[in-house]
Amino acid sequence: MDGNGRWARERWLPRAAGHRAGVAVLTPLIEAAGEAGVGALTLYAFSTENWGRPETEVDSLMALFLETAKGKVPELNERGARLRFVGRRGHLPEAVRAAVGEAEELTRNNDRLNVYIALNYGGRAELVDAARRMIEDGLTPEQVDEATFASYLYAPEVPEVDLVIRTSGELRISNFLLWQVAYAEFYVTDTLWPDFSPEEFRRAISSFAARSRRRGGV
Ligand code: IPE
Ligand code: MG
Repeated sequence: MDGNGRWARERWLPRAAGHRAGVAVLTPLIEAAGEAGVGALTLYAFSTENWGRPETEVDSLMALFLETAKGKVPELNERGARLRFVGRRGHLPEAVRAAVGEAEELTRNNDRLNVYIALNYGGRAELVDAARRMIEDGLTPEQVDEATFASYLYAPEVPEVDLVIRTSGELRISNFLLWQVAYAEFYVTDTLWPDFSPEEFRRAISSFAARSRRRGGV
């Protein structure tokens, strides 16, 4: 969900106002995903690298997360979304961890759309965490193949990523779902995240649907 800061700067607003504007996009987008029959939608909210931002911005993002959870979780629950979080929970503030647990508990029986929030998420951290858990479980080298490795990721029930939408024109992965994007299609748009609309989401899906995926074949 990139481009909040630039969206704010264009309007001479503080960066926090850009993050707030970015939150407003979520409900229409999640609704559009449900209507389009998307099985799983992962939103990259906060990366393991985002801790390096100024403390005031990190604090405002955590506060905004709590406020958003309070307002949106009941609403998303009514819309049939099942919410889950991927990332390193241990490092998050206690109140955020509690909100994460409550959101997962409240929505656990929903099945219209799976929404994953990547929070304190890093693709490399996820791979390291998977390796650590395999070692903890005492797996032998022969037992570690691609299927086993995938089963140790944060959300092993999601088979793989089909489409990555990258806003704000950046042409990089930025440590997002490194394992899962191996054969993902990319849709890159100059649109800044607070301006990302359900219409553009549907355009991205149409673009994806028109592509031929060969996965190394012919
Ligand atoms: C949102 O956009 C990213 C987070 C929610 C941490 P940015 O804050 O990265 O916006 P830009 O890149 O400065 O425009
Ligand atoms: Mg950015």
